[in-house]
Amino acid sequence: MIVETIFSTIDEGGKPNFAPMGVLWADDIVTVRPFRNTDTCRNLLSTGYGVANIADDVLAYARCALNGDILPNFPARKIPGIVFEGTCAWRELEVIFSEGSEARAEVKCRVVHTEERKDFPGFCRAAGAVIEAIILATRLAFYDRKIVDEKIFGFAEIVEKTGGATEKQALQVVRDYIRKAGKE
Ligand SMILES: Cc1cc2nc3c(=O)[nH]c(=O)nc-3n(C[C@H](O)[C@H](O)[C@H](O)COP(=O)(O)O)c2cc1C
Repeated sequence: MIVETIFSTIDEGGKPNFAPMGVLWADDIVTVRPFRNTDTCRNLLSTGYGVANIADDVLAYARCALNGDILPNFPARKIPGIVFEGTCAWRELEVIFSEGSEARAEVKCRVVHTEERKDFPGFCRAAGAVIEAIILATRLAFYDRKIVDEKIFGFAEIVEKTGGATEKQALQVVRDYIRKAGKE
């Protein structure tokens, strides 16, 4: 099963980084598949540590994926790393080994520590639509403008009908990003 997370790492100088990552979830092992050109990949491989945050805040997903925001955070308990302040739960990870292709790493990690802060209420349809919209925004190079417009129109309908303020704000972050990239 692939679980969507906000993945946090630090670089060798201690600078925090957050990015959404879908990770393969098992009891004691988490496999992360970051593209090699991401900071997440560089940090995970150079330090050997990362944190998988299970979060319900789709605005945080949008802000770290598209604006490069450093989210509020606190030190991880058992590894050199950071935890997203708004997370519901998290897993602290230590890299066991990495393989993969030239473009994308496949990094197997051991779960060193797990902790919960609050219930994860589950994603509403609007949150799911926002997650899909963010993924679309991170892959604009693969779609022409008409397809992007159509998809965003569909996501916006769902967010309008079923979303709250957080989902609406998050979709706005996505739309601003796409507009700046010249695709909406
Ligand atoms: C829900 C979701 C899942 C994602 N999963 C991955 C993934 O598994 N691997 C990856 O390289 N990028 C993934 N991305 C895209 C990255 O989050 C995006 O490229 C980000 O800008 C990388 O940031 P970084 O350079 O700070 O690591 C995902 C995005 C979203 C919204």
